[in-house]
Amino acid sequence: MLALARSVWRSSPRAEAHWCRPRQMRHDRGSGAPQEVAGRRRGARGGHRGPWAPAGFMGSVRLVRRAGGGDPAPLALKVMKKSVVLRKRQVVHTRQEKELHGQLDHPLIVKLLGTFQDEANLFMLMEFVDGGELFAVLRSVKMFQNAAAKFYATEIILALGHIHSKSIAHRDLKLENVLLDSCGHVKLVDLGFAKVIRTRTYTMCGTLDYQAPEIINRKGHDQCVDWWALGVLIYEMLSGRPPFRGGNALAVYKKALSTEPEFPPCFTSNARSVIGGLLTKAKSRRLGAGVGGVEDVKDHPWFAPVHWDRVLQKQYMPPFLPTSTSSSDASVFQDCPEDAIDSSPVGLSKAEQRQFEGF
Ligand SMILES: Nc1ncnc2c1ncn2[C@@H]1O[C@H](COP(=O)(O)OP(=O)(O)O)[C@@H](O)[C@H]1O
Ligand SMILES: [Mg+2]
Repeated sequence: MLALARSVWRSSPRAEAHWCRPRQMRHDRGSGAPQEVAGRRRGARGGHRGPWAPAGFMGSVRLVRRAGGGDPAPLALKVMKKSVVLRKRQVVHTRQEKELHGQLDHPLIVKLLGTFQDEANLFMLMEFVDGGELFAVLRSVKMFQNAAAKFYATEIILALGHIHSKSIAHRDLKLENVLLDSCGHVKLVDLGFAKVIRTRTYTMCGTLDYQAPEIINRKGHDQCVDWWALGVLIYEMLSGRPPFRGGNALAVYKKALSTEPEFPPCFTSNARSVIGGLLTKAKSRRLGAGVGGVEDVKDHPWFAPVHWDRVLQKQYMPPFLPTSTSSSDASVFQDCPEDAIDSSPVGLSKAEQRQFEGF
C-alpha cells in the first residue's frame, strides 16, 4: 500500500526564451497525423504546470511512501491519465515503456519497481532519485568544465550501453531525463519513447534539440540516434546551449541537417573530436555506429584514461553534490494535497479500457 506524501517534486526552473510550437508535435509516419512530441520542459515552479511539476510529456511524477510506516524510503510514482494517453495516442508507447523499462537492471538507470492502474490512471512505481535533473545543475552553473562533462558522459554511456545491449533505443536522451542520485551519480529515466529496434524504424519522436538527422528526414533510424543525442548533450554541457539553434523547429532541423556545430574556443581538441564523431550526420559513420558499438565510444581519446569498471562501480567523485543529501529529505518538494491523484471514473468505454489490460 502506498500513501501520497504531502509533497511532489519541485520543478527545476527552466528559462527558455522561445517556445517553438513544433517542438511539441510528433509526426507519426503510419498515420501522417501530427502527435505531440516531448517538449523541453519550461514551466517554472508555480507556473502554468501547477503543483504537479516535474511533469514531462506524458505524466507527472510524485513522491510516495509506503503506508504503515514499515518502510520509510520514499518512492517515485509516475502517474499517466488514461484519457491523456488515449488522446495523445500513446497507448503503444506506454505499454512499451512498462515492458522495456522492466527489462533493465543497471546501477545507472532508475529501477522500475512495479506498475498498476485504476479506472482513470496508469501508475509506474520507481525508485526515488532525489538529486534532481542534470538540467537544473547545468542551468545553475551555466556550463561544465571538461572533467565534469566527462564524468556525466561516462555514466550516461554505460547506461546507454546496457539499453542497447537489449536492442533497445532510448530515443529521448536529454538533460531532463538524466537525474542525479543523492551522491551525484547519474540515473537515467524515462523509457517513454524506448523501442526494440532490430533493423530500423520510422516514427518521428524525441525532443527537438536532440533529434538525429535520420529521425528528422525519416530515413529510418536505430539505436544510433542515442549517440547523436549524446553528442548534443556533451556539447550542451560544455557550452550551456545546444549545438543546433534556431527561432523555430524548422530552423533547428535545417541546422541539424546541413551545418556543422560551431565550437567555442574553450572546447579541447578531443572534446571537438568526440562531439564531431557523435554528431556525424551519416549514421553509418557516426561514432558508436560501427561493429564495436558502445566500445568504440568508450575508446575515444576524450575519455582516456577513464577506467570503465570504476565508472560502473561509481568510484569516480561526482563534480556536484545535490543539496538534498538524504534519501528521505523532502526539502526538494513542494507541498501538495494528499488526495491530489484524480481517480474519478472518466467515462472511458470498455474498448478503451481494454487497451490498458495487463498494464
Ligand atoms: N524515479 C524518479 N525519481 C525522481 N524524479 C523522477 C523520477 N522519474 C522521473 N522523475 C522526474 O519527473 C520528470 C518526468 O518524468 P519522465 O519519466 O521523464 O516522464 P515524461 O515521459 O512525462 O517526460 C523527469 O524529468 C524527472 O524530473
Ligand atoms: Mg521525460
